[in-house]
Amino acid sequence: MNVLEALHTRRAVRDYQNRPVDAVTIDRLLHAAVLAPSAMNSQPWRFIVIQDAARLKRYSDLAKANLLADAAQHAKTEHYRALLGTPEFNIFYNAGTLVTIGVETRGPFSEADAWLAAGNLMLAACEAGLGSCSIGFALGVLNTPEVKQELQIPPEGYALAPILLGYPTVQPPLVPRAEPRIWSWLRR
Ligand SMILES: Cc1cc2nc3c(=O)[nH]c(=O)nc-3n(C[C@H](O)[C@H](O)[C@H](O)COP(=O)(O)O)c2cc1C
Repeated sequence: MNVLEALHTRRAVRDYQNRPVDAVTIDRLLHAAVLAPSAMNSQPWRFIVIQDAARLKRYSDLAKANLLADAAQHAKTEHYRALLGTPEFNIFYNAGTLVTIGVETRGPFSEADAWLAAGNLMLAACEAGLGSCSIGFALGVLNTPEVKQELQIPPEGYALAPILLGYPTVQPPLVPRAEPRIWSWLRR
């Protein structure tokens, strides 16, 4: 699969087979992630791999409670209320693996660095026949002091890009994209 094929094939997958992703495959994906560019070549990435369904369920329940409490203040999460209030809804969609990309200290380019690595990881996962899904819902809970301690994230470290991995049950349809909207293209 070449890069463009991977770009066209990758989807956010929200339904996974009950089939584990092996350590060799995950290691290959982490090596693809660290090929990403980073500001001043700082390579600030740190990885947290969770393959523990009970732990992910616990983090999902915590995240849902926190997000629901927040929804009262933040209108943007309000339309997720019904979903977050559904006991069966797991923010990790019962996937077997969550890889989170963090940074050792937060700086002006941390988000860019983390998400560029996340893009590599997701495309490499696609090439390996795996589905993936970014889980922004998880960010708050992963950065609480208690969970950071459990995950051995140092106090100055920060989790930025949580990515689910697993074998998809089906290939989801393409989410349509708007044509590129160009603000300016200046030539002389
Ligand atoms: C930063 C970020 C956070 C996201 N958070 C979530 C999330 O919490 N839950 C979820 O189901 N999908 C999440 N997504 C996936 C998007 O909904 C998805 O990428 C988008 O709908 C486009 O679909 P596609 O990835 O299949 O092209 C997130 C994507 C990004 C880039």
